[in-house]
Amino acid sequence: MKISKILLWLVPIVLVGIVVANVFFNKAKPQGERLFENNCANCHMEAGKGLQELIPTVRNADFVVNNPEKLACIIRNGIKGEIIVNGKKYNQPMTAAPHLTEIEITNIVNYLLEIQEKKQQKRNLLEIQKDLRNCEL
Ligand code: HEC
Repeated sequence: MKISKILLWLVPIVLVGIVVANVFFNKAKPQGERLFENNCANCHMEAGKGLQELIPTVRNADFVVNNPEKLACIIRNGIKGEIIVNGKKYNQPMTAAPHLTEIEITNIVNYLLEIQEKKQQKRNLLEIQKDLRNCEL
């Protein structure tokens, strides 16, 4: 076989390989991370790092570490009023996300717990369901 003929086959095979790998690896992203990107990152920004004085960070955030049982309610109902995160004051309303299922909320909460500096204990579906029953509205 001539080298040009081999190349003729090789190029499309490599291209298809790249596309397949991309789809595969995107799918492989954990659901919590994908849900965060779709529902939260528009405000909390990429990787949850917040937006200056307006939006608090959720990455390496003392609030997340100290209030794991409140996260599910905040995600479902939003939150408003003054809040202090890592010593900085914020006071902008966060919108509710009533469309998220309990399983989706569980995965988002665990994504939040995962992006803290110190390893945090995960929350399971039963704990999240209990958290949601105790929301103060
Ligand atoms: C419309 C913009 C917006 C969206 C969308 C949003 N948030 Fe928020 N979030 C805020 C604001 C603003 C605050 C601070 C609220 C306050 O001042 O009382 C906040 C506060 C928080 C807090 C508590 C403070 C902290 O930084 O630890 C958590 C946790 C949180 N958001 C998680 C999420 C998650 C998870 C999602 C996606 C399901 C989400 N937010 C979607 C704007 C938003």
